[in-house]
Amino acid sequence: MSSQRSIGFVAGILLLGTVSVDALVHNSMPLKSRNHALSVTMSAVQDETTNNKKAAKFRPNPIVVSAKAEALSHSDTTMKLIPSYDLFQMLSEEEGGDIPTTSSGNAMRDATDLKANTGNKDDKLEGLQLSMFKGCGGSVNVNTLPDPFKMVEQELKPFSDSIKELVSTDQPILSMAAKHFFEKRHGKRFRPTIIQLMAKAVTAAVPETMSSSAAESSISGWQGLGASEIEVEGGVITPENHQGSEVWRRQAQLGQIVEMIHVASLIHDDVLDEADTRRGGEAVHKLYSNKVAVLAGDYLLARASVLLARLENTAVVQIMATALESLVAGEIMQLKAPAESLLEMESYLRKSYYKTASLICYACRSTALLGGHAYGSTVATACEEFGYHLGLAYQIQDDILDFTAAASVLGKPALADMDLGLSTAPILYAAEEFPHLKPMIMRRFKNKGDKQKALEALYSSDIAMDKAKALANFHAQVS
Ligand code: FPP
Ligand code: MG
Repeated sequence: MSSQRSIGFVAGILLLGTVSVDALVHNSMPLKSRNHALSVTMSAVQDETTNNKKAAKFRPNPIVVSAKAEALSHSDTTMKLIPSYDLFQMLSEEEGGDIPTTSSGNAMRDATDLKANTGNKDDKLEGLQLSMFKGCGGSVNVNTLPDPFKMVEQELKPFSDSIKELVSTDQPILSMAAKHFFEKRHGKRFRPTIIQLMAKAVTAAVPETMSSSAAESSISGWQGLGASEIEVEGGVITPENHQGSEVWRRQAQLGQIVEMIHVASLIHDDVLDEADTRRGGEAVHKLYSNKVAVLAGDYLLARASVLLARLENTAVVQIMATALESLVAGEIMQLKAPAESLLEMESYLRKSYYKTASLICYACRSTALLGGHAYGSTVATACEEFGYHLGLAYQIQDDILDFTAAASVLGKPALADMDLGLSTAPILYAAEEFPHLKPMIMRRFKNKGDKQKALEALYSSDIAMDKAKALANFHAQVS
């Protein structure tokens, strides 16, 4: 589908053009087969058989309540979203690699159910591949492409500006702390930009109806689920009627909500990580206090929840609430992981999925739902898959920059991960080459000299950093 290709491409460019400005992902990795899917399974009550199978395969099992308890505590329309970890297919088996099952949405990816809906407009990015570009194996300069941030900047502006008002309260300190990152240090607005681009992309496909093969699959009845009702002439959003429509407004509001959730998580994260700086200025807890920072984060979450409810799409509310749950799960994994798991690439990627990719990929699927696509539709699944890979690429690149970029460039402390006892992709790859790093990783670099020795090993390795960059690049390209 041309819109998916375009969006994937735009994402790659975003990553090349922003995250990689300082220390680019410069190593191309041959892409393995794309016959995978981010198969998030949905059912009113989880199928026990599937659940048990997953539990045996992946640990820890993300489901913490029995089907009986679920049935008692939820209505028929409650959705259960189960993240699978299909991305691990590109890793070797020892690293957690796995061949994923294909979800019914993706099975239809290339089927005729999807009809491009671009009218007479050309898709300017049609046929472009990341591998054509410098840094990805090709020779074309990335600057020759339209800047994705510029593409939606004007549309986003009123929404970006109004966040400040949306988070105002009559408590002056809380108000100032909550507004800090929307007024003074607003960042790149990466997530709202992705959502706005995604909102445009999904207008190019007519919402599909369920095929007979999907009807027979375990994900039954998805065709009516989740999609927002569209009130425009003809009942379908198109690239022509999208901007200014109610659908467009709600998708842009989702961008605001996601930015609020993201900022709340950063305010809390800086308390947990005891980081003094963020976005080139003082962290909120340094400006005020830990207590104010915790409450400011809570307050932003509360405001985001109200705005989420106002989107009047219960499926989107459930999906985004699951994203919040995932964020917390990721932080807890980081804080309390068993020593042996600190050596595992799978655990690292799973944690990265929870703490970073989940918010992006759930937001992308929600954007499709708000655009009239059903939960299990090909388009919605593709959107989530895109966000999943983009989010992982983003986090892996962020982890690389922790070693390679200066604090002044990052706007936050550098070499911070090892101080927190964390081992990310570069160190994990270095430990494969230098096994003496493994005990240091397991004790979270607590002994005197551990950090120094680990850094020396990393910088003396010819391949560890390149492998980490290749992993980030892999996800950037797949997205
Ligand atoms: C930054 O990671 C932190 C996150 C991506 C998520 C933080 C999540 C929580 C604190 C859970 C609570 C969530 C909410 C919504 C309040 P990092 O420390 O690796 O990156 P950094 O270098 O930018 O600090
Ligand atoms: Mg942090």
